[in-house]
Amino acid sequence: GNTTRYEAENATISQGVVESNHAGHSGTGFVNGDNVAGSYTEWTVTGTAGPATLRVRYGNGTTVNRAAAIAVNGTAVVANQSFNGTGAWTTWATTTLPVTLNAGTNTVRITANTANGNPNLDYIEVTQ
Ligand code: GCU
Repeated sequence: GNTTRYEAENATISQGVVESNHAGHSGTGFVNGDNVAGSYTEWTVTGTAGPATLRVRYGNGTTVNRAAAIAVNGTAVVANQSFNGTGAWTTWATTTLPVTLNAGTNTVRITANTANGNPNLDYIEVTQ
């Protein structure tokens, strides 16, 4: 399929900052969301109507799952996606999930479910 990468540093951030201090990230940095429930990063992605694979690259240097809600166009796709520890902040992992897109622009929002906030978010990729 056709894969497009969307860097987190270009996304819309609610409660968080772009940083680059942990090596191995793609692009110019990653999003360090505030350690608070409800903080989010939202990407605008372009799609065609139908199924897609969403891939999320993240880092979590703690041993605690930073579970988050993933919504596409405002509708929850996964209410409590696990983002388990990756071993170090410089170790990045990916998780993939199926989503459905509309033709044209779509939003993908990852919202922290716990007071620990989101993991560090590097990018999402969309494959259709
Ligand atoms: C550390 C780390 C950050 C991370 C933060 C967190 O400060 O350097 O990159 O975002 O922990 O716990 O979320």
